[in-house]
Amino acid sequence: MRDLADQRDFKIGFAAVLNAFELADNQLYLDTAASEFNMLTPENSHKMGWIQPRRGEFRFDDADALADYAEANNMLLHGHPLIWYAQLPDWVQRLDPSDAETVMLEHIDAVAGRYKGRIALWDVVNEALEDDGRLRQSIWFKGMGEGYIGKAFEAARAVDPDAVLIYNDYDVVWENQKSDAMYALLQSELAAGTPIDGVGFQMHLRSGFDDYPSVERNLQRFADLGLDIYITEFDVALDAPDTLDTQAAVFQRSLEICLAQPRCKAMQAWGFTDRYSWRSAFTPLLLTDRYLSKPSYTAWQTTLKNFMR
Ligand code: G3I
Repeated sequence: MRDLADQRDFKIGFAAVLNAFELADNQLYLDTAASEFNMLTPENSHKMGWIQPRRGEFRFDDADALADYAEANNMLLHGHPLIWYAQLPDWVQRLDPSDAETVMLEHIDAVAGRYKGRIALWDVVNEALEDDGRLRQSIWFKGMGEGYIGKAFEAARAVDPDAVLIYNDYDVVWENQKSDAMYALLQSELAAGTPIDGVGFQMHLRSGFDDYPSVERNLQRFADLGLDIYITEFDVALDAPDTLDTQAAVFQRSLEICLAQPRCKAMQAWGFTDRYSWRSAFTPLLLTDRYLSKPSYTAWQTTLKNFMR
């Protein structure tokens, strides 16, 4: 797939598991990824709970190894995330909110600073919205109010001016209460001068999904805000009685919509083999747990082949 994507100046990516280099099948895993993708997002290696387990103590080994691997295989590196409400280390969960701003800025400086010039895009703020569109009452919100979002993006811009800065969320790719709230949030942040370059639509879908016209309209309204579009965490849970071909049709239509949207810069799967998916019970990805291609893989390969920008 990556050769087809490269020929079309398009990015097709995957999320790389934590400790990928220690996997029993690491050679097969890494060789398969290198032949299929030109973009990599660490699934867990950048998360605060992993990368700063104690204040001022950083665990960069896995993120460093993935950065080396991405560079060796000419893959664009997508950092995920800098600031999130989840996967926080105990010391942050116990933090006095009055310390939140200092901790947030220290974290961004340390992590985005370390990978300056190596990580091309950052999910600067991840999932700031509740499912009903209200702002989550995270430690960051408790410490700084809504202003934490602008502060995080400004800090990331200051430490790595060349990185593409993304706001990332889930269940926001079609028109609904949450994507309306995200639209209003990003519109007001942009009006306030917050340096947001793109929006990440996670697209953790299920095989019964079919609201494609709404996806097209929704992506266009964010493009009209002047934002680039990234499909950041694509996978399609297979629900009975749907078939692998039903699942493949969701892969196909979703990639077609991204390719047809000029501002859509990348289609990134949240993993590539069902073996290591966060929801492997629903076999949501491109290859089986034994790395055999599924109809969803053929759908993406064919869609890329048939598309000329
Ligand atoms: O690293 C520890 C390990 O030391 C420990 O032995 C093991 C057992 O408890 O847990 C390991 O951490 C796990 C981590 O994945 C790395 O494997 C966490 O428990 C587990 O909760 C974590 O799950 C990840 C989840 O985010 C929460 O961070 C999933 O793999 C990952 O696919 C999922 O991805 C998220 C995106 O970041 C944001 N969007 C939604 C998406 C799906 O939830």
